[in-house]
Amino acid sequence: MTPTLYSASDSDVSMNYDAQKQKSHRDASRLRKRIFSAVREQDSVEDDSTVGNWSVPAPRISCRNVDVNYGEKQAIKRVSLDIAHNEVLSFIGPSGCGKSTLLRCLNRMNDTIPGCRVNGEIKLDDEDIYLNHIDVVPLRAKVGMVFQKPNPFPKSIFENVAYGPRIHGLTATKDELAEIVESSLRRAGLWEEVKDYLDHPGTSLSGGQQQRLCIARTIAVNPEVILMDEPCSALDPIATAKIEQLIDELREQYTIVIVTHSMQQAARVSQRTAYFHLGKLIEVGDTASVFTKPLHRLTDDYISGRFG
Ligand SMILES: Nc1ncnc2c1ncn2[C@@H]1O[C@H](COP(=O)(O)OP(=O)(O)OP(=O)(O)O)[C@@H](O)[C@H]1O
Ligand SMILES: [Mg+2]
Repeated sequence: MTPTLYSASDSDVSMNYDAQKQKSHRDASRLRKRIFSAVREQDSVEDDSTVGNWSVPAPRISCRNVDVNYGEKQAIKRVSLDIAHNEVLSFIGPSGCGKSTLLRCLNRMNDTIPGCRVNGEIKLDDEDIYLNHIDVVPLRAKVGMVFQKPNPFPKSIFENVAYGPRIHGLTATKDELAEIVESSLRRAGLWEEVKDYLDHPGTSLSGGQQQRLCIARTIAVNPEVILMDEPCSALDPIATAKIEQLIDELREQYTIVIVTHSMQQAARVSQRTAYFHLGKLIEVGDTASVFTKPLHRLTDDYISGRFG
């Protein structure tokens, strides 16, 4: 007799069918849950919350519920964000989304703009920088700023760097002042190029050299934080590479916040990235994660070039 090969009985078939049906129910329910949680995530952002790790332990700077208005127009909407010690944080996002506005809040540079109002709380090393008694001159030395267009003073290279330490009374003698000028120019990677021309005007340098001179001027007054608003946008690729290398070296000593329109630059220089859209902080996280696995659709649209 020919041996009977196993053949599914009716009851086997119906058990298989039931198991498959249950599995497809489970899959559908998992899928529904994933869709609902994604929708909730999107909704919550419409609701002003930020996706990702906006807070860090023991931050150097902390912003809580920061709103900024220019007259009637709200440029920053309920932004909460921490900036850690010795990190480079990039601000990215389409033009007009509020990157420069928030950056300027961090050393009260917005105070100089008529009609600009800042609400919420911004702390530097646990002290609220918007309290009435805070003197903005030492604050702006602690939180220095480097602008998009290099802006050396109409003075010699030496005087550009010596100016800050002199007005802040950081040195007692000429020798001490000369030491600060040299060490600041060395840290800014400019000393070897200018040491024989210290009495030449700062404006006689190339654009990239001028930007490094401005960085030397900023670090000459012992800042804790350096804010940079598109510091390389007026520079060629070689000068840009020098500034980027410098940013990496400066991170050992300072906290740096950089606004950039170049996602490649953000990826090269920063450890964390914050993405802004229409005045809101949409997403913040490790730079690699934000660029490779963005959590929010708007971030994804921006980094993949569908928007901005
Ligand atoms: N001094 C000002 N007075 C009135 N409105 C301003 C002022 N500065 C900025 N704004 C407005 O605030 C919003 C945010 O501007 P902000 O300059 O911060 O954007 P941004 O992200 O830095 O843009 P960009 O990438 O073009 O530099 C914009 O709508 C802008 O028009
Ligand atoms: Mg700007």
